[in-house]
Amino acid sequence: MTETVAITGVTGFIGKHIADNLRARGFAIRALTRSPRQTRDENFTWVRGALEDKDALAELVSGADHVVHCAGQVRGHNEAVFTRCNVDGSLRLMQAAKESGTCQRFLFMSSLAARHPELSWYAKSKRIAEQRLADMSGPVSLGIFRPTAVYGPGDKEMKPLFDWMLRGVLPRLGAPDAKLSFIHVNDLAQAVGQWLVASQLPTAPSELCDGVSGGYNWARVQAIGAEVRRGPVRLVGIPLSVLKVLADLSVLSCRLAGKEPMLTRSKIHELTHRDWSASNQRLSENIDWIPEISLERALREGLF
Ligand SMILES: NC(=O)c1ccc[n+]([C@@H]2O[C@H](COP(=O)([O-])OP(=O)(O)OC[C@H]3O[C@@H](n4cnc5c(N)ncnc54)[C@H](OP(=O)(O)O)[C@@H]3O)[C@@H](O)[C@H]2O)c1
Repeated sequence: MTETVAITGVTGFIGKHIADNLRARGFAIRALTRSPRQTRDENFTWVRGALEDKDALAELVSGADHVVHCAGQVRGHNEAVFTRCNVDGSLRLMQAAKESGTCQRFLFMSSLAARHPELSWYAKSKRIAEQRLADMSGPVSLGIFRPTAVYGPGDKEMKPLFDWMLRGVLPRLGAPDAKLSFIHVNDLAQAVGQWLVASQLPTAPSELCDGVSGGYNWARVQAIGAEVRRGPVRLVGIPLSVLKVLADLSVLSCRLAGKEPMLTRSKIHELTHRDWSASNQRLSENIDWIPEISLERALREGLF
C-alpha cells in the first residue's frame, strides 16, 4: 500500500528536493505551504498553513505514516525569531504527529550548527528543538539529521561563493586553516528517502556531509576551483571588521525592507568557526546510504 509522508519546507530549497525524491520512490506527499498553490496530482496534496497554525498541522499530518520536518527559520535579527519557528513550530508539529495516531516516524532537519549551540541564535534554536523533540516524541520514532552546508540547484546561499570562485576569486570567511564540509542536496534528499525505508534507525543525531576523505579547508577548495576553471583562483580573506560592517548594513537594510537578515553578528560566529568537519559514520552504519557527489564533481558537472 502507498505510504504517505507529510513534509514541511517543500516551498524552500532542500524541501523541494526531498519531495521530488520521495515522490520518485512512490510515497504520497502532503506538503505544507504558506502561499496558495495548485495541487499537482492525487499523490501530491498541498495543505495551506504554517507552523504557527495547529489546525493546519493537524490537517497536514492527517493519515500520514511519516513526517519529514524540513521547514526552518534560517534568517533572523534576534533569538526570538529563531525560537518561534525552529523550537515552538517543531514542537507543535510533533504534537500534531502524535495526536494523528498514524505517524510512525518523524525526521527533524536540524543542522551541523546544532553541535555548537553557543555560536549563534540559529544554532541554539536547532539544538533546543532537537532536545525537546526527543523529550516529547514518545511512541513516534524520531530521527535527527545534522547536515553541513547544503548546495545544489535552487540554493541561493552557497551559489554566489562558487560562482565567484569559478570567475577566479574565492572570498575566505574565517581562519585560513578552518575545516569545512559540504553536501549536495541530492545526496541529502537520498538520505531522507533511505532513512524512511530503513529497518534500523540511529537514535542520536546524525551528521551528513559529502564524505570526501580528509574534508576540506580553504586551500583545498581553492585548488578544486582552479582545476575546474583551468585557471588561477585568488583566495581573498575577508577581515572580521569588514564582516561586522557588512552584517550591520544587512540588518539595517533588511529592517527597512521588512525582511529578516541572513548575515548578522550572531551568524558571523558560525561562519568563522574553525571546525565544521563532519562524519557520516553514524548514519551510514544504520541506513543504506553513501553520498555520491563531491564538491569537485558538482563544480565540474555544473550540479549547483
Ligand atoms: N541550506 C543549508 O545549507 C542548510 C544546512 C543545514 C540545515 N538546513 C536546514 O534545512 C531546512 C531547509 O533549509 P533551506 O536551505 O531549504 O531553507 P529555505 O530555502 O529558506 O526554506 C525554508 C522553508 O521553510 C518554510 N518555513 C519557514 N518558516 C515557516 C513557518 N513558520 N511555517 C511554515 N513554513 C515555514 C519556508 O516556507 P516559505 O517558502 O513560505 O518561506 C520554506 O519552505 C531548514 O530547517 C534549515 O535549518 C539547511
